Amino acid sequence: MEPKNFNRRDFLKTSFKTFAVGSLALSALDVKKILASESLEGTGIQKVINLADYPELGSVGGSAMITGKVIVIRTGGSKFIALNITCTHKKCDTEFDGSGFTCPCHGSTYDKNGKVTNGPATKNLKSYKTSFNEADNTLTINM
Ligand code: FES
Repeated sequence: MEPKNFNRRDFLKTSFKTFAVGSLALSALDVKKILASESLEGTGIQKVINLADYPELGSVGGSAMITGKVIVIRTGGSKFIALNITCTHKKCDTEFDGSGFTCPCHGSTYDKNGKVTNGPATKNLKSYKTSFNEADNTLTINM
């Protein structure tokens, strides 16, 4: 049943409240979406490589580019690291010389674990988790 004195002022008040609550609900949804997409990072694509296809990774210290941007370095019998070679300064491709990375654009350097050793870059190279399956001789890289 409608209130007896439901006038224009009441209508506007009710409309404003409905609009405000609706806006808040939409904002909350957007935040949830943003949080969900943030939490997806690190759970994305897995690339599985067969080490037989990368003879350079057969011995400790060996390295191989497994995509145009990702290098895998064997650091132990069953230990590997995977790094994105994109410089964190202005996104040039760094070059790996066996002991570290050098950026040809402005001279940043990184150690072989991707840690900045000389600027202007201030952030380490992006790294990816790896897991080695000795039985299959495969390496999974979580990109
Ligand atoms: S882009 Fe690598 S040092 Fe500037």
